[in-house]
Amino acid sequence: MENTKKKHLITSALPYANGPLHIGHLAGAYLPADIYARFLRMNGEDVAFICGSDEHGAAITLRAKKEGVTPKEIVDKYNGIISKSFEEFGISFDMYHRTSAPEHHQTAQDFFKVLEEKGSFEKKTSEQYYDEKNDQFLADRYISGECPKCANPDAYGDQCEKCGSTLSPSELINPRSTISGETPVMKETSHWYLPMNQHEEWLKEYIEIGEYEGKTHHNVKEWKNHVIGQCKSWIDGGLMPRAMTRDLNWGVKVPVEGADGKVLYVWLDAPIGYITATKVWAEKNGKNWEDYWKGENSEIVHFIGKDNIVFHCIIFPILLKEHGGFNLPVNVPANEFMNLEGDKISTSKNWAVWLHEYLEEFPGKQDELKYVLTSIMPEAKDSEFTWTDYKDRINNELADILGNYLNRVIVLTLKYYDGVVPEVALQREDEEALDEALSSAQQVSESIVKYRFREALSAAMNMARIGNRQLQALEPWRLQKTDPERVKSIMLAHLQIAANITVALAPFLPNKAAQIAQALGVDNKTWTFSQEKVAKGSTIQKMDILFEKVEDETIQKQVEKLEASKTDNAAAAVEPVETRAQKEEIAFDDFMKIDMRVGTIIEAEKVKKADRLLKLLIDTGIDKRTVVSGIAQSFTPEEVIGKKVTVLLNLAPRKIKGIESQGMILMAENAEGKLSFLQPDGKHGSAAGDGVS
Ligand code: MF3
Ligand code: ZN
Repeated sequence: MENTKKKHLITSALPYANGPLHIGHLAGAYLPADIYARFLRMNGEDVAFICGSDEHGAAITLRAKKEGVTPKEIVDKYNGIISKSFEEFGISFDMYHRTSAPEHHQTAQDFFKVLEEKGSFEKKTSEQYYDEKNDQFLADRYISGECPKCANPDAYGDQCEKCGSTLSPSELINPRSTISGETPVMKETSHWYLPMNQHEEWLKEYIEIGEYEGKTHHNVKEWKNHVIGQCKSWIDGGLMPRAMTRDLNWGVKVPVEGADGKVLYVWLDAPIGYITATKVWAEKNGKNWEDYWKGENSEIVHFIGKDNIVFHCIIFPILLKEHGGFNLPVNVPANEFMNLEGDKISTSKNWAVWLHEYLEEFPGKQDELKYVLTSIMPEAKDSEFTWTDYKDRINNELADILGNYLNRVIVLTLKYYDGVVPEVALQREDEEALDEALSSAQQVSESIVKYRFREALSAAMNMARIGNRQLQALEPWRLQKTDPERVKSIMLAHLQIAANITVALAPFLPNKAAQIAQALGVDNKTWTFSQEKVAKGSTIQKMDILFEKVEDETIQKQVEKLEASKTDNAAAAVEPVETRAQKEEIAFDDFMKIDMRVGTIIEAEKVKKADRLLKLLIDTGIDKRTVVSGIAQSFTPEEVIGKKVTVLLNLAPRKIKGIESQGMILMAENAEGKLSFLQPDGKHGSAAGDGVS
C-alpha cells in the first residue's frame, strides 16, 4: 500500500567529479536546496534530498588526460574531495551517491532498455568527427574551434563558453581535436537519437501553462521567468533529435548487442543518477523509492544552475514521460551565475573560492559563508561575490545586528535575573514588538515556499533588527535602575523574539541557530513560532561569542591569493619548467631561430591588479622594449633596476594585463620556487633546465 503522506523529492545537480566545489556551485544548486530541505523537514514533511557525483562524460576523461591518470582515479579523487567538503560544510543530503556505482549502471541500463524497447529512440548513422591519430571518435568536448556566433577561437563542440551558445561540432569553424590538435576527419558511426522534435507540443503545454497529459500539473506563476524563458526559446527555436549515446570507453555501456565501444550520453545517465540515489537511500531506510518518483502525492523539485535548464526541463522530462510511470518536476528553480571579484568563476582558470580551501582556512565559519552566499544568491539575475562584501556582511549584519542583539538579551538576562526567564505578563508595547517579529517569521515561510531564499533570510534577520531597534528605543539598561518591573516584561519579550529567531534561522544558519537555541534552552527543530517559546521560570545559559569580526588582513590575503592565480594564467610563462613534462624534441634549426641577448633593466614598475607581474623596460643593445614578467613576488621594482638579464627577443609579442610584452627574460628558480637572476656575467651558475620567467 502506498504511504499517502506527501513526499518531497529534492535534488541538486550532480556535480562533475572533475574538480573541487566552489562558491558558485554552492550558491547555484546546493544551498537553496539545503535551505528548502531543512525547512520542509522542520515542518514535518517527508523529504528525500538527493545528490551524488556525476562521474561520466568528457568532463571526466578530459581531466584525466590533463592530469595524466585514469578516469577512475579522477572520479575517486574528486568524489572524495567533494563529498567530504559537502559534509563538513553541512549540506544535509539524505543520500550522496555516485554514477560510477554498479547500482547506477544497472538502473541506467534498465531505463535505456525500456525506452529502446518502446521505440522511443531512432537509430541513425551519421558522420562524426574522428581523430585519426588517436583512433577515436571525438565527443563534443573533444573538439574545439571558432564559435560561429561570436568568433571565440576556443569554443567547444557543444558550447561556446564565451557567448553561451549551444553548438554542435559541425558548426565550429576550423575544428580541431583537443586530444591531438589535428584537424579531425568525418567518419560514419551510428547512435540512438531522442527525437525531441516529436515532443514539442506537450512540452510547450508543460512549460508554458503547467499542463501535462490534460491535467494541471503545476502553477507556472511559481516558475522563474528566466527558466520559462530559456525553455520557450529552445522549443520555439525547434527541437532537434539529439544523440543519446556516445563513442567513448568511459561511462555506462549501451545495453544492446553489438554496441561495443558505445556508452550512454552523460546527460542521459546523470539525471537517472537521481533515481539510483533515491533507490539506494530508500533501501537503506526502509522506504519505497517509487513513492517519491511516481506517487500521486509527491513533488519533484530540481535545484540547478542555469546551464542545466534544458536538461532538466526538456530532455529529462521527455525521458521520464517516454519511460512512463514517473512524475515530472513541479518546479526547477534554477539560479543564474555568481561571479567573483569582477570575473566569471572558472575552474580551469582557477578563478574561484574553493570550498575545501575555505573550510581549511576558515574553520568553524560554515554559517558565515552560508549567510553571505544566501544573501547574494543569483536567484533572478547574475550576482557577484567579493571578499569586501563578505567582510561587510559578517561584520555589519551578523556581528553587529544578530550577534549583538542576542548577546545583549542573554547577557542582560543573566545579569538581572541570574538567567531565570522573568515570570511576568507582557506589557502591550512589548507584546507588539514580539508580534512584529513573529509576523516577520511568517514572511520567512512564505518566501521559502516561493524559492525566494534571499528574501526569506532577510525576513529572518529582520526579527533581530526589530528586536535591536526596540531595545535601543527602550534602553532597559537605564530603566533597570528606575523601573525594574517594566524591564522584566521587556526582557521576556526579547527572550521570546530570540527564541523564535533560532527557528527562523535554522534552515540558513543551522550551527549558529542551534548554538543560540541551546543557550536559551529551547527546541528549534520544528517550524513553529509562538509568543511562548521560552518557558517562564526556566534558566538560560551563557553563550560563546556568535560571530567574530573579519579582519581586513584576512580578506586581503584572499584577494591576493586570487590575484596570484590570475597572474599564473596571464603569464603562463611563469609556470616552472619542472612541473611540466618535457616538451617535444625540437630540431637544431629551431633552436637556432632563438634570438637571445643580454640586456639591462632600465625601468621597472608593478602591474596594477596583478601582484606577480612587473613591467620592465629593457635596453637590449639594439632597442628598448617592454617585457612583462612574473617576478614581482621575488623582487621589488627598485631591486631589479640596473640588473643585467638574458632576454629572448624574437618571441611573438603578447598582451598580458593589457600590456604588450615584447620578449621574455630568463630566470633561475630553486626548488622552493625562489627566483634569482641568471647573471649573464656568470655569478649564478646554470642556465638551461632552470626556471623560465
Ligand atoms: N554534472 C552536471 C554539471 O555539473 C550536472 C548534472 S545534473 C544531472 O553541469 F541531472 F545530470 F544529474
Ligand atoms: Zn561564442
